[in-house]
Amino acid sequence: MVYASHSPKPLEKSITNLKLQAMKAQGEKFVTVALYDAPMAAMAERSGVEVVLVGDSLGMTVLGYDSTIPVTMEQMIYHIEAVSRGNKKSLIMADLPFMTYATPTQAMENAARAMQAGAHMIKIEGGSWLTETITMLADRGIPVCAHIGLTPQSVNKLGGFRVQGRTEEKAQELFDDAKKLEAAGADILLMECVPADLAKKITEALTIPTIGIGAGRDTDAQVLVINDILGLTPIPPKFSKNFLVETTDIPGALAKYVGDVKNGVFPSNEHIFE
Ligand code: KIV
Repeated sequence: MVYASHSPKPLEKSITNLKLQAMKAQGEKFVTVALYDAPMAAMAERSGVEVVLVGDSLGMTVLGYDSTIPVTMEQMIYHIEAVSRGNKKSLIMADLPFMTYATPTQAMENAARAMQAGAHMIKIEGGSWLTETITMLADRGIPVCAHIGLTPQSVNKLGGFRVQGRTEEKAQELFDDAKKLEAAGADILLMECVPADLAKKITEALTIPTIGIGAGRDTDAQVLVINDILGLTPIPPKFSKNFLVETTDIPGALAKYVGDVKNGVFPSNEHIFE
């Protein structure tokens, strides 16, 4: 299906994780936006954004911190509640912030808080060390998105916000992690800042959908942060794009992003890591 750019196409039905799996099976891309408040959440629903992510990036985009590390569970709950008041049809995914899922029990307690605040799925950052946690959450009815590659909560360990999986050994490690996370019960895999070829290989090897940010054009979905889509970021990352410059208003910018992802126009070569 070809989507007309600029003209918002509202979601008709509520989006579930089964719907996202069906979209992967049919080769239809879905669109995710990280956003933090009720009016933007409502605009995303009206623009056909299937998944809204209440990201802990709010530490930087809204609260003025240098990283996601200071973000608390209370701050996440405040924003999850706001987003869920504004949007009744997109699937609402929410980050568990730094050190709120260091053990499986802690993860279960904080995931329950996020779900009771309005999330439909939680997102946690990390590789194979998360398998026990993911199985525990899945067994208790909590859908999980596992986030690998550049995991911003580990920025101090990674030595900066840099592309991951560039050596053969690191690429194999990410591939193996992806398979283990799926086997543990993850519903979605999100890959941030990994070479496009690796993201493609992982996407093809998994049955669950993948979402990419700086991970090339072959993932099953794309995610961008609303501040980047609207040109609010002083030094935008290479993988992002300001869609507002090509339109006249916020719904138009969101519709352009949705259309460009679905039609395979975004990301283009300038947004991709080789
Ligand atoms: O917190 C966030 O917004 C994210 C996206 C950048 C993927 O994790």
